[in-house]
Amino acid sequence: MDADTQLRTVADYVDRAKQLLPGETATGMFGGASNPGTAWTDARNAEGWRDLELRPHVMVDVSSRSTATEILGLPVSVPVVLSPVGSHVRSHPDGELASARAAGEAGVIMGLSTVSSYTIEEVAAVASGPLWFQLYVFRNRSISAELVRRAVASGYRAIVVTVDNPGTSSEERRFRATKRRAEHDVFPNLRGIPGAEQLGTTKFHESLDDTFNWHDIEWLRGLSDLPLVIKGIQRGDDARRCEECGVEAIVVSNHGGQALQYTRPTAEVLAEVTASVGDGIEVLVDGGIRHGTDILKALALGARGVLLGKPLYSGLAVGGADGVRDVVGILQAELGAAMSLSGVTDVRAVPRDLVGHRLSPGRPVPGDPTLAAELEL
Ligand SMILES: Cc1cc2nc3c(=O)[nH]c(=O)nc-3n(C[C@H](O)[C@H](O)[C@H](O)COP(=O)(O)O)c2cc1C
Repeated sequence: MDADTQLRTVADYVDRAKQLLPGETATGMFGGASNPGTAWTDARNAEGWRDLELRPHVMVDVSSRSTATEILGLPVSVPVVLSPVGSHVRSHPDGELASARAAGEAGVIMGLSTVSSYTIEEVAAVASGPLWFQLYVFRNRSISAELVRRAVASGYRAIVVTVDNPGTSSEERRFRATKRRAEHDVFPNLRGIPGAEQLGTTKFHESLDDTFNWHDIEWLRGLSDLPLVIKGIQRGDDARRCEECGVEAIVVSNHGGQALQYTRPTAEVLAEVTASVGDGIEVLVDGGIRHGTDILKALALGARGVLLGKPLYSGLAVGGADGVRDVVGILQAELGAAMSLSGVTDVRAVPRDLVGHRLSPGRPVPGDPTLAAELEL
């Protein structure tokens, strides 16, 4: 690649992926005129990070810095998890096999979606780093139980239960689904599972269990000894409830704008969530993370790490495993630079007050009256 075409930022990767992918696929992933709510929520997520100001310390010896940490006890080179997103083959024919290789090489965790294009076992066979399995809860619970059993047998290290997408099929959603190409007649992970023979792209949403509720955490616990990660938390009180239920980690997430649209930016929700829970639960966040400073801000607001959805799809679309590794590498380099310019030497000890107030005048960091008072906002 010559200097003009070299991709230097995650935004470059996203722009290039939008050019490379077929229009229908790009719109499905990134939003667009036919689904403006997704595009709006996605843009607001990114703005949420951008709008937070940093308050750097100076005159700190930053000659030795580390971006390494642990997420649920798993060592990572940078606090990043590749978010579980469906059907990676939409981006690249090697799909999740390439992503898993890249994650291992980059030293980060990879989350595999229930609706992946390669199976739990195929991905485990090529992965050199830790894998998490993302579970959707089907009306036919035995399907979900079987998926967890296979994830355990294949050495996955956590079960991520996505709770922001409970199978409700809105009119708009149905309309969009009919417009979309049916990517899978049956999702690869579901082939051969009794009762799941028909579960492909078109029947997916109606097959999810919309009765799933807090009491079902006990059922999830009974499926395996793996740590539970609840993904899709958007309120402090729900986060606290997860902690009370003994869940090991949560992901503050609005599904990158793909579930309920017109929700708050996750940066804003994160501040409320971390102010609502204690040390008994790890808090992760995703949505609009596009730069190393976004990660630094998330850590300052109390997150243990961040997940990447569209940046993962974009890296994969542009360069397969190399592209995904490069996206993680760019974020790691940017995070390292931001740390050195902020007087931070260790990602495990980013001070809370490194993040000040929002750029919008007079708007304090939501959910944190203490900090707002300290800063006399
Ligand atoms: C096209 C697309 C497919 C997704 N598929 C899944 C999925 O199968 N399971 C899941 O838990 N989340 C899924 N997500 C949500 C992501 O895991 C993640 O929460 C979101 O993409 C993060 O925001 P970002 O894309 O701005 O990084 C999907 C997101 C997108 C954009």
